[in-house]
Amino acid sequence: MSSLKNKNIILTGAAGGVGSVTAKFFLESGAIVHLLDIDEIKLTALCKELHLYEGSMYEYVCDLTNSEQLTNTFKKIGRSFPIDVLVNCAGVSDVDTVETADEKNFDRIWNINVKGLYRCCQETIPFMKKNKHGGSIINICGITKFCVRRF
Ligand SMILES: NC(=O)c1ccc[n+]([C@@H]2O[C@H](COP(=O)([O-])OP(=O)(O)OC[C@H]3O[C@@H](n4cnc5c(N)ncnc54)[C@H](O)[C@@H]3O)[C@@H](O)[C@H]2O)c1
Repeated sequence: MSSLKNKNIILTGAAGGVGSVTAKFFLESGAIVHLLDIDEIKLTALCKELHLYEGSMYEYVCDLTNSEQLTNTFKKIGRSFPIDVLVNCAGVSDVDTVETADEKNFDRIWNINVKGLYRCCQETIPFMKKNKHGGSIINICGITKFCVRRF
């Protein structure tokens, strides 16, 4: 996909299942990928593997529930690169049904999958607005698993 060539893409949850496949696709397309994840070990391992791909990449260990760390990471990227695309892929899905998931677990998932996503968008949009052609945001993570069971 040549339209992604040299585009700067921030990918959260990059070290995860969906994230790592997505990272490979973007790199194959010639994009410049900024890989974010809380898991430093998985992120480092992924980056070693991704060196074979065409595009360039940068890695950032970042906990999306740590607001200050999130702000600093996005500012670091946005001040050095034009942000063209944000892919919100970080998330947790180890939930059960509405009936069985306890409130503490729900709050944890909410803080990562919903508030984390909101904060990433909030930090990115001002940078995207400075671009001549704006930017795109793709949201992959969600909490719909709570609602899809039949009863
Ligand atoms: N796997 C699927 O088929 C599928 C389909 C649709 C949507 N989703 C959603 O997409 C998201 C990712 O799915 P996955 O299968 O890749 O999950 P995954 O667990 O393999 O990857 C999630 C990644 O997010 C990272 N992460 C977790 N908490 C974080 C935090 N606080 N800060 C930064 N990074 C954090 C994890 O370290 C992990 O690398 C989930 O929210 C899931 O519900 C998954």
